[in-house]
Amino acid sequence: MSELTSLPQWGALSDHARGMAGFNLRQAFDTDPGRAGRFSVELDDLFLDYSKNLITDETLGLLLALARACDVEGFRARMFAGEPINNTERRAVLHTALRYQGDEPLKLTRPDGREEDVRAEVADVLLRMKAFAKEVRSGVRCGSTGLPFTDVVNIGIGGSDLGPAMAVRALTPYTHDRLRFHFVSNVDPTHIAETLRQLDLATTLFIVVSKTFGTQETLANARVVRDLYLTAQLPRNALAKHVVAVSSEPKPVQDFGIELENMFEFWDWVGGRYSLWSAVGLSLAIAIGFDNFVQFHRGAHAMDKHFQTAPAGENMPILLALLGVWYRNFLGAATHAVLPYDQYLARFPAYLQQADMESNGKRVDRNGVEVDYQTGPILWGEPGTNGQHAFYQLIHQGTQLIPADLIACIRTHNPVANLHDLLLANCLAQGEALMTGKTTDEARTEVTAAEIEKLEQRGMPPEEIERRPIHRTFPGNRPTNTLLIHKLTPGNLGALIALYEHKIHVQGAIWGLNSYDQWGVELGKKLAGEVYSDIRTPRVVTEHDSSTRGLIERIRKH
Ligand code: F6P
Repeated sequence: MSELTSLPQWGALSDHARGMAGFNLRQAFDTDPGRAGRFSVELDDLFLDYSKNLITDETLGLLLALARACDVEGFRARMFAGEPINNTERRAVLHTALRYQGDEPLKLTRPDGREEDVRAEVADVLLRMKAFAKEVRSGVRCGSTGLPFTDVVNIGIGGSDLGPAMAVRALTPYTHDRLRFHFVSNVDPTHIAETLRQLDLATTLFIVVSKTFGTQETLANARVVRDLYLTAQLPRNALAKHVVAVSSEPKPVQDFGIELENMFEFWDWVGGRYSLWSAVGLSLAIAIGFDNFVQFHRGAHAMDKHFQTAPAGENMPILLALLGVWYRNFLGAATHAVLPYDQYLARFPAYLQQADMESNGKRVDRNGVEVDYQTGPILWGEPGTNGQHAFYQLIHQGTQLIPADLIACIRTHNPVANLHDLLLANCLAQGEALMTGKTTDEARTEVTAAEIEKLEQRGMPPEEIERRPIHRTFPGNRPTNTLLIHKLTPGNLGALIALYEHKIHVQGAIWGLNSYDQWGVELGKKLAGEVYSDIRTPRVVTEHDSSTRGLIERIRKH
């Protein structure tokens, strides 16, 4: 048995889960008028109602005891103190320093034990970003022919794509009128080809974002762009005017042909999927303007402070994390749905997929010992109400327990007719229906005499008519969190992202994982390189399994 599962607090939760088998949320609400008030928490413009979860006060008490036993608060302190908690790479994890708004030194411990205050280097890069964003927006900085930029293309993948792509979309109402934003990530030539089709090279700014500046997809796309500028009918300095880089590795950037004065730096203590706050957010800063980018940081910093200081029982990220642990480890949930009722947040689930699954999709603990408990769930989602007409069926009536986060904004940027109220009504109604369900008796009372008559006319046998309410029965007891955001502003988006970042951190602390490495992705990178040369080289392939060999040969033949 692992250290975690041998904890008495783990055992107590396992026993408690068995005792909760007959727990009914609907009854819990009927008998406890204070439930919603007690199980909700607020921070500035974010309000989390977690009362529609399969929990009692005792459940919460036991989960909080588990968090204490796992030293969640100690692990949190170690992150903020800049200790190298990314132990497999011996790196600090300090994305919170990028959005820090206070005056205290922000120390990180270097691998050789040296302590360093990172505030000055962070401030320097932010100042450069500020000037750059301002110049691009105003048209002072322009393309090689003297025309202002009309398009900005972010070339990057994973953390160097999903964050800025999600945030630029989420903050569309704040984006600059003249500028259009594009995100090219896939090595599929269609992605860059379809993007280029919409662009004029003379008025486009490309930002090549790669922490390592060694990622195959990003470099392949960037080379296409570089070669276009080297051969285009544009002034000779076109490449320097149109292509900038964001990276933590100056050498490969220079080798690629981008001067360091056109590179924005970030550091090895910023994980790729936590890097949106750094220069990786350059496209976002250009899109929404630097003042709004600062608001974005401020919102995240407020969440950082809340995470650091609020008691665990009132701490939004800790609560969300503990609820996730409850479902994953004690009630057997394999997936977790994130369902934003906001079209601007359409890419939020995809962004969170990387943040969560690359962080906690691990099968060994920090010491390399195989775990005997479940770790990160499959995270997925789509905006409501679209999802309601696609996969909600399975959440309501399927055989799996799927906890879900419903996220909605009280105020819309687009008050068109009554649509926003309809959206909100759907969000709340789904939470209520998932929780309440519908008994067979209730379903039976819904069937009208006219309906029965119609079914009889269609020739439906009486026993089938009798059985129909069973199909219309909803078991209910399906848990949701409802997160209400006052309005989707830069600050509130910052707080929302930081909330989930910290949730992931807390779950990693409980599961004893290193949430900040991603060795699982490395295998694919290496294999692709080998298969690539086999596809391109005309020789008999003897390596690989017979299936892969056959596929390679078929591709070569055709
Ligand atoms: O996909 C794996 C990964 O290493 C991610 O963690 C990272 O966000 C992405 O590749 C891109 O890496 P880079 O920024 O170094 O190009």
